[in-house]
Amino acid sequence: MAAEGEYLLELTDIEAGYGRAALVLRGLTVRVPPASVVCLVGPNGAGKSTVLKVASGMLTPRSGRITVCGRDVTRLGPQQMLRAGLSHVLQGHSVFKEMTVSENVLLGAYTIRDRAEIAERVDFVKTLFPVVAERWGALAGALSGGQQKQVEFARSLMVSPRVVLLDEPSMGLDPKATATVFEQVVRMRDAGTAVLLVEQNARRALETADLGCVLDLGRVHISGPAPDLLADPKLGELYLGSGTSTAGS
Ligand SMILES: Nc1ncnc2c1ncn2[C@@H]1O[C@H](COP(=O)(O)OP(=O)(O)O)[C@@H](O)[C@H]1O
Ligand SMILES: [Mg+2]
Repeated sequence: MAAEGEYLLELTDIEAGYGRAALVLRGLTVRVPPASVVCLVGPNGAGKSTVLKVASGMLTPRSGRITVCGRDVTRLGPQQMLRAGLSHVLQGHSVFKEMTVSENVLLGAYTIRDRAEIAERVDFVKTLFPVVAERWGALAGALSGGQQKQVEFARSLMVSPRVVLLDEPSMGLDPKATATVFEQVVRMRDAGTAVLLVEQNARRALETADLGCVLDLGRVHISGPAPDLLADPKLGELYLGSGTSTAGS
């Protein structure tokens, strides 16, 4: 395990919720080491999106601590979190369909002044996501759902984040597009961006991730190497749909 300060992102003992309603996160701890995909799984309403909102500064935690590479960023807002290296791809679809792919991607560069840096990042995301290069001048609305998700990924990488926060990237996609999206998650990691991945598709996410965390009642209930979680029969029954060994017909 990495020593303190060696994690890219640490959320420690986070308590957070909305207004006067009961807390959603009740002492949650999640850590993202370098060069890793960490997935957070749990049922609908468990608080997965809330974790990402806390990490990207959209929601200020009531207590707990957030650090990026050991630096305390606990009370920073969304723009400062982005500068600190946390880029958030929201749940659902956030491409602007009436704008071109290039316009959508370049929106992700709005905090960057240096034109050469922007050009370099454009080359980088075009290499990582070939469909972005191929459809660069097309209207984003003309792309399939899976392709639009890649446009969102490309946009999120324009700022060279340390960690990209992906909220249910496979939502609403067919199996083929889902497979591509998970491949792209691995490519992002291999290209140097760690990923904190939230998924309802727990089995598929754990097959992709290096580490997994199971969220239950506002805390991380079980965590460890993703293959260990996949092999855990109890977890299979409770969280992964069917048992691991009895797939049926
Ligand atoms: N903007 C909001 N205002 C009030 N309650 C919210 C808001 N967003 C989410 N919640 C509540 O917080 C809980 C966790 O939601 P969420 O983090 O979206 O779960 P998940 O992503 O795991 O499905 C749910 O009970 C949900 O109703
Ligand atoms: Mg959610």
